[in-house]
Amino acid sequence: MASDFEVAGGGRLTGRLRVPGDKSISHRSIMLGALAEGTTQVSGFLEGADALSTRNVFRALGVRIDGPDQGRVSVHGVGLQGLRPPAGPLDCGNAGTAMRLLMGLLCGQRFESLLVGDESLSRRPMRRVSEPLARMGARIETTAGGTPPVRILPSGGLRGIEFDMTVASAQVKSAVLLAGLYAEGITAVTEPAPTRDHTERMLAGFGVAVHREGPRVWLHGGQTLRAATLDVPADISSAAFFLVGASIAEGSDLTLAHVGMNPTRTGVVDILRLMGADIEVLDPRTVGGEPVADLRVRSAALRGITVPPELVPLAIDEFPVLFVAAACAQGRTVVTGAHELRVKESDRIAAMADALAAVGMPVQPTEDGMVIEGRGGETSPFAGGVVESLGDHRIAMAMAIAALRSARPVRIRDTANVATSFPGFTRLAAEAGLGIAERSAA
Ligand code: S3P
Repeated sequence: MASDFEVAGGGRLTGRLRVPGDKSISHRSIMLGALAEGTTQVSGFLEGADALSTRNVFRALGVRIDGPDQGRVSVHGVGLQGLRPPAGPLDCGNAGTAMRLLMGLLCGQRFESLLVGDESLSRRPMRRVSEPLARMGARIETTAGGTPPVRILPSGGLRGIEFDMTVASAQVKSAVLLAGLYAEGITAVTEPAPTRDHTERMLAGFGVAVHREGPRVWLHGGQTLRAATLDVPADISSAAFFLVGASIAEGSDLTLAHVGMNPTRTGVVDILRLMGADIEVLDPRTVGGEPVADLRVRSAALRGITVPPELVPLAIDEFPVLFVAAACAQGRTVVTGAHELRVKESDRIAAMADALAAVGMPVQPTEDGMVIEGRGGETSPFAGGVVESLGDHRIAMAMAIAALRSARPVRIRDTANVATSFPGFTRLAAEAGLGIAERSAA
């Protein structure tokens, strides 16, 4: 059912909360667990629609998966060669990660499969994945425009490649490495800039030898995965909404518990600190191969910055809410090198420029980023108004957070997809002090 957010202007965020489990790690826990020998036990699994799409796809491929039940999932692995032909199309819903990683994993199977997605996913580019996989010997068909549905035909066997990736994409890297498990010889990917490394870390946790030298990562095909026990940390991409919210709302003091602090994901903390944010990293520890910490954030006077381009891939999902932070900062913020934002769940440069303009904050979108003249000196940089989320979860949550510095309420349309990555967002945000209510829309 369609729903809207109605968010009162003003307020502050306080207390302690734990946001749901990491989306990237949750997807991979099912995928690698399915390919492993033995039963993988997962806790902290994201019970959001995206990760559930991946679970449903693997059930359709013949894998027994129990849960999630309070974040606990058991994946009864079938081994590298144990997946079974699906009876129908495999629905990835809104999840680009599911579809792209599945392309890599399914092109080495002896059966045919068809990957489909929702309206947003059906517009997203898949050639970045199908092209390198084709070089490995995969047979993959997309629409003429390179978008889903994606048909994967059995190949006559894959061979390893040396792949120089042109876009800095963890999904592309992961798809090629997963195909590499089924390939003859060595499969190597060289990244143009560091991207999230969960696939490499988790493969290692499942007993696969993965090598890295500088930007080049590689593995030998045919290795056996052994079941693992995984504790999924809270998603830093979901925590980001609260890091920004507590920074911009005066009088805030909020602690976010058990946040994943993988260095390929912490760009948002680095960028906010460059802007003057007051974020304390408490009790840093390692849980199941991933760094984790509690983050205490207190309000601070932010200043505009030129975002260092090398931090962009490390914070790529956080830009919608970082644009909100920039609007509440003193001075100009310039983001470049973020062209990838145009091919996310929505065109996030256009969507955020329109959304900010709709609440009275004109900004200058550019081809690969944004220029924002912050209004940090004003109590309410945003006037309030009605915003279209375009069904993009992160646009919806970013604009809900903007309401903390809005003179009047912000109404956000089409918010049902917030549940793809952050089930329970309204409840947690309200507990922390955001004046948010969810309304069903006609
Ligand atoms: C993801 C990689 C990123 C990110 C997405 C999750 C992953 O996409 O935006 O939300 O889990 O590998 P790209 O690889 O396209 O940058």
